[in-house]
Amino acid sequence: TKKQSRQLSAEEIREIEHEKTHYPYTQAVGLEALKIVQKHQGWVSDESLLAVAEYLDIPVADLEGVATFFNMIFRRPVGKNVICLCDSVACWMLGCDDLKAQITSRLGIEYGETTEDGEFTLLPVPCLGACDKAPVLMVGRETHRHVDPENLDQLLNELQ
Ligand code: FES
Repeated sequence: TKKQSRQLSAEEIREIEHEKTHYPYTQAVGLEALKIVQKHQGWVSDESLLAVAEYLDIPVADLEGVATFFNMIFRRPVGKNVICLCDSVACWMLGCDDLKAQITSRLGIEYGETTEDGEFTLLPVPCLGACDKAPVLMVGRETHRHVDPENLDQLLNELQ
């Protein structure tokens, strides 16, 4: 069955229109529009992606490409706290695999999974640009540097 787009909310449209004033080409607003939708909906469903493509009058495939390229655009429902664990080389050398194992054993989720209570999603992400402070993870907009088993435990306590 063919997917239908959904109606963008007035608020989403208002924010997208505002972004448009910053960009010379409508095409360039695509990523910002996806971020706006994600801010309001938590993630970008197919219906939302179609709605944005229609609204901006850009090809769905182009927008899909943007969404795929920027891995902070979630194309599946995510938990309230999205833990993005850097698994690039510096973080890997300094033990991100152990941190991942710690999260998996404590929360029972693997990469790409969400806890049943909808609280946490765990995702691997490429270098977050703080290699000298590895290992690094992000929860929401917060970056956590020099993560170790103790402060990871503490962080999860605070979030839970
Ligand atoms: Fe993890 Fe760069 S490798 S922040």
